[in-house]
Amino acid sequence: MTRIHWIFAIFLGIFPLAARAQQADAGALLPLNDTQKLGQRIYQQRCGVCHTIVAPVFPMYGPALYKDLVIGSEDAIKEMIRSGTSKMPGFKLGLQPSEIDAIVEYLKTAPKPPKSTAARNAPPGPMD
Ligand code: HEC
Repeated sequence: MTRIHWIFAIFLGIFPLAARAQQADAGALLPLNDTQKLGQRIYQQRCGVCHTIVAPVFPMYGPALYKDLVIGSEDAIKEMIRSGTSKMPGFKLGLQPSEIDAIVEYLKTAPKPPKSTAARNAPPGPMD
């Protein structure tokens, strides 16, 4: 395994803990409707491992996602989630269209992360 594979494996190991902590925080901050809650849950399970800080010592693999990035570009974002890129897997076989809609509804409520988070955003490189 290469170094990035190890980092990724560690991410997967600790993610469930981080996701639980985050869910508690988000629940206290914003009242989400049922669709947004569904989207939040799927996002934390399927996307958060690359798109959120899971522990301060690890860089994020993907860019931070938040409302300013998504609002106004919903269709392009949905297409990108379905098809993926050379660095991100596509989800058209793994998620229902309604689940992708729910993720986007959730992201439209997500606040911009603090600067310290953005600074760690540089992707470490391709995964293979
Ligand atoms: C394996 C890690 C990984 C997973 C899992 C992942 N992404 Fe990504 N995502 C990335 C990377 C890396 C990029 C940057 C893509 C590029 O530059 O080609 C990205 C880019 C994006 C973008 C475009 C951001 C922009 O500024 O243009 C969106 C939107 C996105 N991801 C949404 C999602 C959603 C929603 C999920 C879950 C269904 C998800 N991603 C799961 C790694 C991941």
